Amino acid sequence: MSRKVSTRHLAVELTAITDAAALASFRWLGRGRKKMGDGAAVDAMRQGFTHMDIDGLVVIGEGEKDEAPMLYNGERVGTGKGPQVDVAVDPVEGTRLLALGKPNSIAVVALAPRGSMFNPGPAFYMDKLVVPAQARGLVNITDPVERTLKTVAKALGKEVEDLMVFVLDKDRHSDLVRDIRSAGARIQLHTDGDVAGALMAVMPGTGIDMMMGTGGTPEGVLAAVAVRILGGEMQGRLDPQSDEERRAVLDAGLDLARVLRTEDLVASDDILFAATGITDGTFLAGVTQTETGVRTSAMVMTGYTRTVRRIESVYAPQRHNHLAMAAYA
Ligand code: FBP
Repeated sequence: MSRKVSTRHLAVELTAITDAAALASFRWLGRGRKKMGDGAAVDAMRQGFTHMDIDGLVVIGEGEKDEAPMLYNGERVGTGKGPQVDVAVDPVEGTRLLALGKPNSIAVVALAPRGSMFNPGPAFYMDKLVVPAQARGLVNITDPVERTLKTVAKALGKEVEDLMVFVLDKDRHSDLVRDIRSAGARIQLHTDGDVAGALMAVMPGTGIDMMMGTGGTPEGVLAAVAVRILGGEMQGRLDPQSDEERRAVLDAGLDLARVLRTEDLVASDDILFAATGITDGTFLAGVTQTETGVRTSAMVMTGYTRTVRRIESVYAPQRHNHLAMAAYA
């Protein structure tokens, strides 16, 4: 059995797992109940892993074992037979988006060789900068905003005025928003979903040129896997949002001043990233009910070969019902 992680076989299997999470959570779309949608996706994803030939260790999961009965940090997943991997999951990235029926809610999983994913421990929040391949090696998250915008614009052959920056719509970003606008660039504000934001920043044709600002650290590690495969660059700095988080991060020996580069967030090219759209989004369609079944739209990226596959699947209605109703009817 292959010990390699970024195989075509595992890539396709991974989309079955993100599809399962998307199908299960879809029933909760627009019902205003974040936890139910997330719970359904966690159950489906956990079930999906039981068939997968990996010896997986959840590094980015649903939290500590006490609060998360499944897919908790430290949980072992897979049959135990395949390659030893670190597993990062976000069964519903954008739980609020799902609950409110807004775009860009996705189910996401990433795999990397054991020990190669950054373990954020108690660090919930990270300041992030994501730029496309043309600007790789040219930016530094510690630079003033205006300088970074000029650098990226030049690398893309654009004027700063033409740049579109993805920023999460959060109070903590008022200075960032002011600085971006006063430098002349434009901003797309999204209430949630900075994994999708990072993907948009590195994929051509999405209308987004880069991403800036603070979001979840787990989401940062997940996004770094896709950014690495797509040849872009991600930089992060832990950015605790409460005294309690700051204390926990420092007690864990993590360095608040350290600039985490793409290679620090995921230290291998032998990686896989898969996502399935739950609600309709910029680069992935959401789950759609058709006359013949339920259609999903997934994207899976393979590290070594840098292959991006888009997989559209139609599931018979029974399959969807089975996933969606389990324990949540
Ligand atoms: P959830 O799916 O866990 O709700 O995360 C959504 C999200 O918007 C992430 O994309 C982002 O990294 C994080 O929350 C930001 O956290 P907060 O909403 O607390 O600022």
